[in-house]
Amino acid sequence: MSERLEDIAAAMVADGKGILAADESSGTIKKRFDVIGVESTADSRRDYREMLFRATSAMKNHISGVILYDETIRQKAADGTPLVDLIRASGAIPGIKVDAGAKPLAGFPGDTITEGLDGLRERLAEYYKLGARFAKWRGVIDINEEENVPSSTAIDANCHALARYAALCQEAGIVPIVEPEVLMDGSHDIDTCYEITKVTLLQLYSELYAANVSLEGTILKPNMIIGGKKSGIKNSPEEVAEKTIKLFRETVPVAVPGIAFLSGGQSDEEATANLNAINAIGPHPWKLTFSYGRALQAAPQKAWSGKVENIAAGQAAFAHRAKMNSLAALGKWQQTAEKAA
Ligand code: 13P
Repeated sequence: MSERLEDIAAAMVADGKGILAADESSGTIKKRFDVIGVESTADSRRDYREMLFRATSAMKNHISGVILYDETIRQKAADGTPLVDLIRASGAIPGIKVDAGAKPLAGFPGDTITEGLDGLRERLAEYYKLGARFAKWRGVIDINEEENVPSSTAIDANCHALARYAALCQEAGIVPIVEPEVLMDGSHDIDTCYEITKVTLLQLYSELYAANVSLEGTILKPNMIIGGKKSGIKNSPEEVAEKTIKLFRETVPVAVPGIAFLSGGQSDEEATANLNAINAIGPHPWKLTFSYGRALQAAPQKAWSGKVENIAAGQAAFAHRAKMNSLAALGKWQQTAEKAA
């Protein structure tokens, strides 16, 4: 495969394909395993992820890349094959989460700043040797209108860090996924999400420009424009799609080859329906696909529940969600396809 950044980025958003975000930190995967009653150990985490990466036809047909966590990129399957080799054998590209998580921003209660820039050049060089050809860094922007969160300081600091990360990735021959996630956990409405995401994306592209980042070799991983979960209002896929595309047309340069959404706490089917509605109102100047964690993995985690005899069921559940989201990335999903399964 070509090693040019723009070719790697194009492959990451190839038609009908999207990214499997399997980069949960050890703390986050423990929370997911707690739900299904599975103890989180290095071996159980390996067994679970091996199950996904060995879902061969789903991986081959619907998954362009997999975001890994530091532990996973170094792990071997039960038979000794490096997990990275399983991913590559399916035709997908291995990627790596490189941020060190969101920490409280000093002086701004309720805001966070994502850490992990110190030593990043050296870590990227190692990850490249381990097979990673793209990376992910997530800046987290919470919304709490009563507390004046987010501050503009938090938005600026996170976008600045994303730009420094992106420049280091490109220097290392790695495509940066830039992820400024405006959380959907709050009680705000869809228009507030629109306004905060707008300020964030404008600042992000200003910082990427200032950092000499080549946009052709990047992928944007944003939230959709959607009301907060605690607002009690459910936005239709049509409204989410219309507002998301209106905002991106105002803020995301066409030099960006692709946009791969996070699912952010939407239900499996909601994340699929919304992505489908976004693509159904195309054509758009960028590819729009998925980079889902929870919305791809909740179903296989439940079906697997840590039991060897459930591996085929877990793989089938993963294959189904991957196929539904692949259809949505083409704007060809229909609710009846869910029932057919
Ligand atoms: P979710 O799809 O579960 O939001 O996770 C995607 C991700 O990688 C967040 O950083």
